[in-house]
Amino acid sequence: MRKKIIAGNWKMNKNFEEAMALTSEIVNMLKDEYKGSAETVLIPPFVYINAVSRMLEGNISSGAQNCSNHASGAYTGEISGDMLKTIGAKYVIIGHSERRQYFAEHNDWLAKKINAALLSKLFPIYCVGETLQERENNIHFDVLNSQISEGLFHLSNEQMKNVVIAYEPVWAIGTGKTASTEQAQEVHAFIRNLVKEKFGSDISENLTIQYGGSVKPDNAVELFSAPDIDGALVGGAALQSRTFVDIVKAMK
Ligand code: 13P
Repeated sequence: MRKKIIAGNWKMNKNFEEAMALTSEIVNMLKDEYKGSAETVLIPPFVYINAVSRMLEGNISSGAQNCSNHASGAYTGEISGDMLKTIGAKYVIIGHSERRQYFAEHNDWLAKKINAALLSKLFPIYCVGETLQERENNIHFDVLNSQISEGLFHLSNEQMKNVVIAYEPVWAIGTGKTASTEQAQEVHAFIRNLVKEKFGSDISENLTIQYGGSVKPDNAVELFSAPDIDGALVGGAALQSRTFVDIVKAMK
């Protein structure tokens, strides 16, 4: 059975006290209210991962928003996969569109980060997605093809088993404009097929593909009903316990 994952990417939000409060609210609400089988992942800023991880119970894990492509050494300000793993992180987001856009992270660079994450036994959540202009110019499938093939196609089948993909159309992030379920499903099926052509159907059928971009409690149920949408990577709505837990509950 394909794993369903609902992850909350807190981005650069919350002070320490707020982060602790949000975590404990989510843990308590899920314990009382959620009977489904999806895994919940909290992805706070680096500095809170250790404290957040210690508070988690049940089918809730933590993750990081980025990691270095190096294992260790003189890279001031960087955080390695091992550091994250040893403070409790299970997942790491690689190639979020904000990293691609503001920090010039490109596919070849991201491929190295994927390797570093896997070496540290973290599960990478590799983000892909087109800009509005790319969609309007009808080149979104080419863009997705390059992001997936350049970022992931160097991996072995064994490695690929540990990768999650998140489709986050840039035009839907933080804009309140969600991709329609049909648009998202079309891209998810395209991605699954690309992965099938390269790695075979065992891997592609078991691959978790999350959707991200203005996911809210009122659109989550419909998005999750699509056959190739296996969860969500939530931004804004993950900053509030009630809305985030309601999105998790939308995954039966
Ligand atoms: P929003 O849910 O705020 O659109 O953000 C999506 C996102 O970027 C998650 O990584």
